[in-house]
Amino acid sequence: MNTTITATAKYIPEKILSNFDLEKIVDTTDDWIKSRTGITKRHIVQESEATSDMCANIAKKLLESSGKTPEEIDIIIIATSTPDHFVVSTAAIVQDKIGAINAWGYDLTAACTGFIFALETGARLIESGKYKNAIIIGADTMSSIIDYKDRNTCVIFGDGGGGVLIEQTDDDYGIVDSILKTDGSGNQFLTVPAGGSRKPASETTVKQRLHYVYQDGKTVFKYAVNRMSEVSKEIIEKNKLSSHDIKLFIPHQANQRIIDATARKCGLDLDQVFVNIDKYGNTTAGTIPIAIDEANKMNLLKSGELLLLAAFGGGFTWGSMLIRWNKML
Ligand code: UT7
Repeated sequence: MNTTITATAKYIPEKILSNFDLEKIVDTTDDWIKSRTGITKRHIVQESEATSDMCANIAKKLLESSGKTPEEIDIIIIATSTPDHFVVSTAAIVQDKIGAINAWGYDLTAACTGFIFALETGARLIESGKYKNAIIIGADTMSSIIDYKDRNTCVIFGDGGGGVLIEQTDDDYGIVDSILKTDGSGNQFLTVPAGGSRKPASETTVKQRLHYVYQDGKTVFKYAVNRMSEVSKEIIEKNKLSSHDIKLFIPHQANQRIIDATARKCGLDLDQVFVNIDKYGNTTAGTIPIAIDEANKMNLLKSGELLLLAAFGGGFTWGSMLIRWNKML
């Protein structure tokens, strides 16, 4: 028995924050951002919107396009670094919002690799035979933890998310393989220093702006290229394939230069690589499921063709996943 994707969806907040908007807030230029990252704009939630609102919208779209009822959903896994609350899980709020009265669920934190980790765990639960339908979402409200006075981070990140419905199948389609990694020794290079149990929120932590994302961009850049290309090449070789057998490569969208360098190291041509970073920036756990939905809606994959995913993020966490595409109705 395999697990396959039977519906895809995304949610992008309406409000746009362009490079030109950022020029008015921090010492940056549209030219610098475009040439160093490939980003022209990102989307930002309204004040009243939180991660669970984006996720509930995605989950409802998954139900609509698959024809499933909320009662048929067994599991909801939300990959996010920006939950609505520490207590309760975003998955619980989404379960209630969509009326999935028979579902259980939880949040999973693995920064930008979160969606691949969530898809792996969801797939294994489905393959146990105990559960039939799972909703797997990656979404982040990065604007809630970004310092719009810090030009090192505020130009990169945006809000948004996407998700998939997964089910059992007896066919050959679905998740073929994955290679997932964690190396916590990299934790200091990309983190939110305060607000957790290590440094609870206080007047001092707020004054020191420690509730925002801190990133050592240069170090993260180097690791991202090397680790994503390593696991992508490894999964291709492990499955006795060559880079030409991959129809579409969806890498985490953190920086156009990271995407290009990773693809080059893997021997992939540009027309095999899906890129949408120009429109959304880095939506953390959202980038891969947003791209999967867009690739699906653009009919970039036919039944039986191979999709390769790769991500790298805080932790460090990283991984690759190989999927034999199942054309959706
Ligand atoms: O998604 C999770 C993983 N995250 C990533 O993969 C992100 C990885 N890192 C990156 O994408 C890049 O390192 C950044 C986009 C964050 C930065 O790009 P960079 O090419 O590494 O720039 P840099 O930090 O080396 O800075 C180069 C120059 C510096 O000026 P000097 O020292 O050469 O005079 C910076 O002060 O660019 C300056 N700079 C900026 N200038 C205008 C840094 N940020 C900006 C900015 N606008 N926003």
